[in-house]
Amino acid sequence: MNLFRLDNKVAVITGGGSGIGQAIAKVFAAQGANVHILELNEDGGKQTATDIAAAGGKAQVHGCNVAQQSSVVATMDKIIAAAGRIDILVNCAGIAHVGKLETTTEEDLDRVYNVNVKGTYNCMYAVIKQMKEQKSGVILNIASIASSVGIPDRFAYSMSKGAVLTMTLSVAKDYIQDGIRCNCVSPARVHTPFVDGFIAKNYPGKEQEMFDKLSKTQPIGRMAKPDEVGTLALYLCADEAGFITGCDYPLDGGFIRLNN
Ligand SMILES: NC(=O)c1ccc[n+]([C@@H]2O[C@H](COP(=O)([O-])OP(=O)(O)OC[C@H]3O[C@@H](n4cnc5c(N)ncnc54)[C@H](O)[C@@H]3O)[C@@H](O)[C@H]2O)c1
Repeated sequence: MNLFRLDNKVAVITGGGSGIGQAIAKVFAAQGANVHILELNEDGGKQTATDIAAAGGKAQVHGCNVAQQSSVVATMDKIIAAAGRIDILVNCAGIAHVGKLETTTEEDLDRVYNVNVKGTYNCMYAVIKQMKEQKSGVILNIASIASSVGIPDRFAYSMSKGAVLTMTLSVAKDYIQDGIRCNCVSPARVHTPFVDGFIAKNYPGKEQEMFDKLSKTQPIGRMAKPDEVGTLALYLCADEAGFITGCDYPLDGGFIRLNN
Protein backbone atom coordinates (compact mmCIF):
# COMPACT_ATOMS: atom_id res chain seq x y z
CA MET A 1 0.00 0.00 0.00
CA ASN A 2 1.14 3.48 -0.84
CA LEU A 3 -0.10 5.39 2.19
CA PHE A 4 0.27 9.03 3.19
CA ARG A 5 1.52 10.31 -0.16
CA LEU A 6 1.50 14.09 -0.65
CA ASP A 7 2.36 14.08 -4.36
CA ASN A 8 1.97 17.50 -5.99
CA LYS A 9 0.59 19.06 -2.81
CA VAL A 10 1.90 22.52 -1.95
CA ALA A 11 2.89 22.53 1.71
CA VAL A 12 3.95 25.64 3.62
CA ILE A 13 5.91 24.97 6.80
CA THR A 14 6.94 27.80 9.11
CA GLY A 15 10.07 27.33 11.19
CA GLY A 16 11.28 24.65 8.79
CA GLY A 17 14.91 25.58 9.28
CA SER A 18 15.36 23.72 12.55
CA GLY A 19 14.08 20.99 14.83
CA ILE A 20 10.49 19.88 14.44
CA GLY A 21 9.74 22.07 11.41
CA GLN A 22 12.80 20.72 9.64
CA ALA A 23 11.72 17.12 10.32
CA ILE A 24 8.21 17.89 9.04
CA ALA A 25 9.60 19.55 5.89
CA LYS A 26 11.81 16.55 5.17
CA VAL A 27 9.12 13.90 5.62
CA PHE A 28 6.57 15.91 3.60
CA ALA A 29 9.06 16.33 0.75
CA ALA A 30 9.95 12.63 0.89
CA GLN A 31 6.24 11.88 0.46
CA GLY A 32 6.07 14.02 -2.69
CA ALA A 33 5.03 17.48 -1.44
CA ASN A 34 6.39 20.72 -2.89
CA VAL A 35 7.61 22.27 0.34
CA HIS A 36 7.82 26.01 1.04
CA ILE A 37 9.71 26.93 4.20
CA LEU A 38 9.02 30.27 5.89
CA GLU A 39 11.97 31.13 8.10
CA LEU A 40 13.43 34.01 10.08
CA ASN A 41 16.72 32.13 9.95
CA GLU A 42 17.18 31.85 6.19
CA ASP A 43 20.45 29.90 6.53
CA GLY A 44 18.66 27.20 8.52
CA GLY A 45 15.90 27.10 5.93
CA LYS A 46 18.42 26.84 3.12
CA GLN A 47 20.12 23.91 4.85
CA THR A 48 16.79 22.08 5.07
CA ALA A 49 16.09 22.82 1.39
CA THR A 50 19.56 21.59 0.40
CA ASP A 51 19.06 18.35 2.34
CA ILE A 52 15.65 17.87 0.71
CA ALA A 53 17.05 18.49 -2.79
CA ALA A 54 19.91 16.04 -2.11
CA ALA A 55 17.29 13.40 -1.26
CA GLY A 56 15.43 14.11 -4.54
CA GLY A 57 12.67 16.30 -3.09
CA LYS A 58 11.42 19.82 -3.80
CA ALA A 59 11.77 22.72 -1.37
CA GLN A 60 12.03 26.50 -1.47
CA VAL A 61 12.92 28.91 1.31
CA HIS A 62 11.28 32.27 1.93
CA GLY A 63 12.85 34.62 4.44
CA CYS A 64 9.90 35.73 6.56
CA ASN A 65 9.12 36.86 10.07
CA VAL A 66 5.78 35.25 10.88
CA ALA A 67 5.10 37.98 13.44
CA GLN A 68 4.80 40.60 10.65
CA GLN A 69 1.49 40.33 8.84
CA SER A 70 2.56 42.32 5.76
CA SER A 71 5.55 40.05 5.25
CA VAL A 72 3.50 36.88 5.74
CA VAL A 73 0.76 37.99 3.34
CA ALA A 74 3.30 39.01 0.68
CA THR A 75 5.09 35.65 1.03
CA MET A 76 1.92 33.56 0.84
CA ASP A 77 0.69 35.61 -2.14
CA LYS A 78 4.00 34.96 -3.90
CA ILE A 79 3.67 31.20 -3.28
CA ILE A 80 0.05 31.19 -4.49
CA ALA A 81 0.98 33.17 -7.62
CA ALA A 82 3.75 30.69 -8.48
CA ALA A 83 2.20 27.39 -7.34
CA GLY A 84 -1.46 28.19 -7.94
CA ARG A 85 -2.56 26.84 -4.57
CA ILE A 86 -1.66 26.03 -0.97
CA ASP A 87 -2.84 22.62 0.18
CA ILE A 88 -1.16 22.39 3.59
CA LEU A 89 -0.04 24.92 6.19
CA VAL A 90 1.98 23.79 9.20
CA ASN A 91 2.55 26.48 11.81
CA CYS A 92 5.69 25.38 13.59
CA ALA A 93 7.74 28.56 14.12
CA GLY A 94 7.81 29.24 17.83
CA ILE A 95 9.85 30.62 20.69
CA ALA A 96 9.91 30.02 24.43
CA HIS A 97 10.28 31.96 27.64
CA VAL A 98 11.18 30.50 31.02
CA GLY A 99 9.48 32.27 33.89
CA LYS A 100 6.52 32.46 36.26
CA LEU A 101 4.05 35.35 36.22
CA GLU A 102 6.29 37.48 38.45
CA THR A 103 9.38 36.86 36.28
CA THR A 104 7.64 37.55 32.98
CA THR A 105 7.93 41.15 31.85
CA GLU A 106 5.59 42.91 29.48
CA GLU A 107 8.31 42.64 26.82
CA ASP A 108 8.66 38.88 27.41
CA LEU A 109 4.91 38.41 27.07
CA ASP A 110 4.72 40.49 23.87
CA ARG A 111 7.70 38.71 22.31
CA VAL A 112 6.21 35.25 22.85
CA TYR A 113 2.72 36.42 21.85
CA ASN A 114 3.97 38.02 18.64
CA VAL A 115 5.60 34.83 17.31
CA ASN A 116 3.54 32.00 18.78
CA VAL A 117 0.05 33.52 18.73
CA LYS A 118 0.12 36.33 16.19
CA GLY A 119 2.47 34.38 13.90
CA THR A 120 0.05 31.45 13.82
CA TYR A 121 -2.88 33.81 13.23
CA ASN A 122 -0.98 35.69 10.49
CA CYS A 123 -0.20 32.53 8.54
CA MET A 124 -3.73 31.13 8.80
CA TYR A 125 -5.14 34.56 7.88
CA ALA A 126 -2.93 34.72 4.79
CA VAL A 127 -3.95 31.31 3.39
CA ILE A 128 -7.60 30.93 4.34
CA LYS A 129 -9.03 32.83 1.34
CA GLN A 130 -7.08 30.64 -1.08
CA MET A 131 -8.08 27.44 0.75
CA LYS A 132 -11.74 28.53 0.64
CA GLU A 133 -11.51 29.12 -3.12
CA GLN A 134 -9.95 25.69 -3.56
CA LYS A 135 -12.63 24.21 -1.29
CA SER A 136 -9.85 22.23 0.38
CA GLY A 137 -6.93 22.69 2.72
CA VAL A 138 -5.29 21.36 5.85
CA ILE A 139 -3.89 23.46 8.66
CA LEU A 140 -1.78 21.88 11.39
CA ASN A 141 -0.62 23.94 14.33
CA ILE A 142 2.18 22.88 16.64
CA ALA A 143 0.82 23.45 20.13
CA SER A 144 2.29 21.84 23.27
CA ILE A 145 1.33 19.89 26.35
CA ALA A 146 1.45 23.38 27.92
CA SER A 147 -1.77 24.11 25.99
CA SER A 148 -3.76 21.91 28.31
CA VAL A 149 -1.79 21.10 31.48
CA GLY A 150 0.20 23.27 33.87
CA ILE A 151 3.94 23.35 33.23
CA PRO A 152 6.10 24.99 35.91
CA ASP A 153 7.88 28.22 35.03
CA ARG A 154 6.29 28.65 31.59
CA PHE A 155 3.73 31.42 32.07
CA ALA A 156 4.06 33.23 28.71
CA TYR A 157 4.70 30.05 26.74
CA SER A 158 1.62 28.36 28.21
CA MET A 159 -0.48 31.44 27.44
CA SER A 160 0.66 31.28 23.84
CA LYS A 161 0.16 27.56 23.35
CA GLY A 162 -3.27 27.67 24.97
CA ALA A 163 -4.16 30.23 22.30
CA VAL A 164 -2.77 27.97 19.56
CA LEU A 165 -5.12 25.21 20.73
CA THR A 166 -8.18 27.46 20.89
CA MET A 167 -7.41 29.14 17.54
CA THR A 168 -7.25 25.62 16.10
CA LEU A 169 -10.71 24.80 17.40
CA SER A 170 -12.14 28.10 16.19
CA VAL A 171 -10.76 27.73 12.65
CA ALA A 172 -11.81 24.07 12.47
CA LYS A 173 -15.38 25.05 13.33
CA ASP A 174 -15.64 28.13 11.10
CA TYR A 175 -14.29 26.47 7.94
CA ILE A 176 -15.56 22.90 8.19
CA GLN A 177 -18.08 23.58 5.39
CA ASP A 178 -15.28 24.88 3.15
CA GLY A 179 -13.45 21.55 3.07
CA ILE A 180 -10.72 22.86 5.37
CA ARG A 181 -9.46 20.73 8.24
CA CYS A 182 -7.56 22.24 11.19
CA ASN A 183 -5.85 20.27 13.95
CA CYS A 184 -2.96 20.66 16.35
CA VAL A 185 -0.36 18.38 17.89
CA SER A 186 0.87 18.82 21.42
CA PRO A 187 4.34 17.42 22.00
CA ALA A 188 5.98 17.06 25.36
CA ARG A 189 9.72 17.67 25.22
CA VAL A 190 11.28 17.00 21.83
CA HIS A 191 15.06 16.91 21.50
CA THR A 192 15.74 19.88 19.20
CA PRO A 193 18.04 22.94 19.19
CA PHE A 194 15.14 24.71 20.99
CA VAL A 195 15.69 22.44 24.03
CA ASP A 196 19.49 22.45 23.81
CA GLY A 197 19.50 26.26 23.59
CA PHE A 198 17.23 26.67 26.57
CA ILE A 199 19.30 24.27 28.70
CA ALA A 200 22.56 25.99 27.71
CA LYS A 201 21.09 29.42 28.49
CA ASN A 202 19.38 28.62 31.76
CA TYR A 203 21.56 25.88 33.28
CA PRO A 204 25.19 26.55 32.28
CA GLY A 205 27.56 23.86 33.58
CA LYS A 206 24.65 21.53 34.38
CA GLU A 207 23.66 20.66 30.82
CA GLN A 208 23.81 16.85 31.10
CA GLU A 209 22.09 16.82 34.49
CA MET A 210 19.25 18.98 33.15
CA PHE A 211 19.00 16.94 29.95
CA ASP A 212 18.55 13.75 32.02
CA LYS A 213 16.04 15.46 34.32
CA LEU A 214 13.99 16.79 31.40
CA SER A 215 14.11 13.38 29.71
CA LYS A 216 12.61 11.78 32.83
CA THR A 217 9.70 14.22 33.01
CA GLN A 218 8.17 12.05 30.28
CA PRO A 219 7.04 8.78 31.94
CA ILE A 220 8.44 6.93 28.92
CA GLY A 221 11.90 8.11 30.09
CA ARG A 222 13.12 10.12 27.12
CA MET A 223 12.36 13.10 24.91
CA ALA A 224 10.59 12.67 21.59
CA LYS A 225 12.56 12.73 18.36
CA PRO A 226 11.66 15.43 15.79
CA ASP A 227 10.90 12.67 13.26
CA GLU A 228 8.23 11.29 15.57
CA VAL A 229 6.41 14.62 15.36
CA GLY A 230 7.03 14.64 11.60
CA THR A 231 5.30 11.30 11.15
CA LEU A 232 2.21 12.33 13.12
CA ALA A 233 2.11 15.61 11.16
CA LEU A 234 2.28 13.62 7.91
CA TYR A 235 -0.69 11.48 8.90
CA LEU A 236 -2.78 14.47 9.98
CA CYS A 237 -2.04 16.39 6.77
CA ALA A 238 -2.56 13.42 4.43
CA ASP A 239 -5.86 12.58 2.75
CA GLU A 240 -6.07 9.45 4.93
CA ALA A 241 -6.88 11.75 7.88
CA GLY A 242 -9.80 13.29 5.97
CA PHE A 243 -12.24 12.61 8.83
CA ILE A 244 -10.11 14.39 11.45
CA THR A 245 -10.65 18.05 12.29
CA GLY A 246 -10.78 20.11 15.46
CA CYS A 247 -8.50 17.69 17.33
CA ASP A 248 -5.45 18.12 19.54
CA TYR A 249 -3.06 15.19 19.45
CA PRO A 250 -0.70 14.77 22.41
CA LEU A 251 2.64 13.21 21.50
CA ASP A 252 3.94 13.12 25.01
CA GLY A 253 5.49 9.85 26.20
CA GLY A 254 2.64 9.59 28.72
CA PHE A 255 3.13 13.08 30.17
CA ILE A 256 -0.49 14.20 30.34
CA ARG A 257 -2.22 11.04 31.53
CA LEU A 258 0.44 8.93 33.23
CA ASN A 259 2.38 11.53 35.26
CA ASN A 260 0.88 10.91 38.70
N1 LIG B 1 11.14 21.14 21.33
C1 LIG B 1 10.17 20.91 22.19
O1 LIG B 1 10.35 20.31 23.25
C2 LIG B 1 8.78 21.36 21.87
C3 LIG B 1 7.71 20.81 22.60
C4 LIG B 1 6.41 21.22 22.30
C5 LIG B 1 6.18 22.14 21.31
N2 LIG B 1 7.25 22.66 20.63
C6 LIG B 1 6.96 23.65 19.61
O2 LIG B 1 7.41 23.18 18.35
C7 LIG B 1 7.78 24.27 17.54
C8 LIG B 1 9.19 24.06 16.99
O3 LIG B 1 10.07 23.88 18.07
P1 LIG B 1 11.56 23.37 17.87
O4 LIG B 1 11.91 22.68 19.13
O5 LIG B 1 11.69 22.65 16.59
O6 LIG B 1 12.31 24.79 17.82
P2 LIG B 1 13.62 25.31 17.04
O7 LIG B 1 14.07 26.52 17.77
O8 LIG B 1 14.56 24.18 16.83
O9 LIG B 1 13.00 25.74 15.64
C9 LIG B 1 12.10 26.83 15.56
C10 LIG B 1 12.32 27.51 14.22
O10 LIG B 1 11.38 28.59 14.13
C11 LIG B 1 12.05 29.70 13.56
N3 LIG B 1 11.41 30.94 13.98
C12 LIG B 1 11.38 31.46 15.22
N4 LIG B 1 10.74 32.64 15.21
C13 LIG B 1 10.35 32.87 13.94
C14 LIG B 1 9.66 33.91 13.30
N5 LIG B 1 9.26 34.99 13.97
N6 LIG B 1 9.40 33.81 11.98
C15 LIG B 1 9.82 32.74 11.27
N7 LIG B 1 10.51 31.72 11.81
C16 LIG B 1 10.77 31.78 13.14
C17 LIG B 1 13.46 29.63 14.08
O11 LIG B 1 14.37 30.37 13.26
C18 LIG B 1 13.72 28.14 14.08
O12 LIG B 1 14.33 27.72 12.88
C19 LIG B 1 7.63 25.53 18.40
O13 LIG B 1 6.39 26.13 18.12
C20 LIG B 1 7.64 24.97 19.80
O14 LIG B 1 6.93 25.79 20.71
C21 LIG B 1 8.54 22.29 20.87
